[in-house]
Amino acid sequence: PQTPAAETRPRPMSSAYGDITLISGNAHVELSKAISENLDQPLASARVARFTDGEVDIKLDEDIRGRDVFVLQPTCPPVNENWVELLLLLDTLRRASAGRITAVMPYYGYARKDRKDEGRVPISAKVVANTLVACGADRLVTLDMHAAQIQGFYDIPVDHLYARPVLLDEVEAMGLDNPVVVTPDVGGTKMARAYAKRLNADLAIVDKRRISGSETMIEHVIGEVEGRNCVIVDDMISTGGSITQAAAILKAKGAKAIVIAVSHAVFCGPAVDRLDAAPVDAILVTDSIPQGEKRPKKLKVCSIAPLVAQTIRSIHTSESVSSLFE
Ligand code: R5P
Repeated sequence: PQTPAAETRPRPMSSAYGDITLISGNAHVELSKAISENLDQPLASARVARFTDGEVDIKLDEDIRGRDVFVLQPTCPPVNENWVELLLLLDTLRRASAGRITAVMPYYGYARKDRKDEGRVPISAKVVANTLVACGADRLVTLDMHAAQIQGFYDIPVDHLYARPVLLDEVEAMGLDNPVVVTPDVGGTKMARAYAKRLNADLAIVDKRRISGSETMIEHVIGEVEGRNCVIVDDMISTGGSITQAAAILKAKGAKAIVIAVSHAVFCGPAVDRLDAAPVDAILVTDSIPQGEKRPKKLKVCSIAPLVAQTIRSIHTSESVSSLFE
């Protein structure tokens, strides 16, 4: 048989570092397995358990000397458990002489505490950065961080991914007529604009004021929503307060269908009950955070595993990651 021309031959995965090794913490084993399947690369054998007193107990069963290691661990709830487990995994890998260590953290816990907005409070997102680097991370991969400028807390490369292409595939499949993309607060305008651009849709802004850490109040809507199919986009649903209030005001202003498309489904406190009671037709989220038994009835989970797997491949072979979003 003839050898195909060089440009049509599949390129072998090669890297300046060693072969890929994938290691999963306990935060989201299902996602780790899906990433591993997408890469056709097994998860390394390791014990990531707890001592009787609750301390993290880790032991790698494989030699990873010189390898290009990716640690798969979103710091979702229970955030402190998952964070410490990640730190000790990084330390384990560094002491085992990994060639390069990349923390793959599709959900970045503590990202909302990214500045000192009042006296006598921590900048928790910076503490996360300090500890990851101090424990051995050479690179970070994360997705839709609450504030993109958190990248500046790091002096190592950060690949900041977007869930947008994954969620938009699903929104487009719904075939919504003449949609308008809505952000539930002014801070999300840039994100909403990126969604609107691909959908060729208009933009609307819900003017949300934060009364306290857990309470918000909606004043009014900027943009045309009457008789329109609305796609509300946001980085996360936590207690569900912001997004369900936004849905209610859109409905009150005459919106037709309301679809929610959100990157991170934290779903804490009253979130599921609020979403079930809200006037929404579909709730699209990614699997950056594992979901429990109690889920909103209209929930559809879209997997980021192929996107994360492709990112790992690109990092390993030193190819562009930003081109995945063009
Ligand atoms: C706020 O700035 C974020 O983008 C989310 O809208 C917010 O964190 C969601 O929180 P909750 O679901 O508790 O309203």
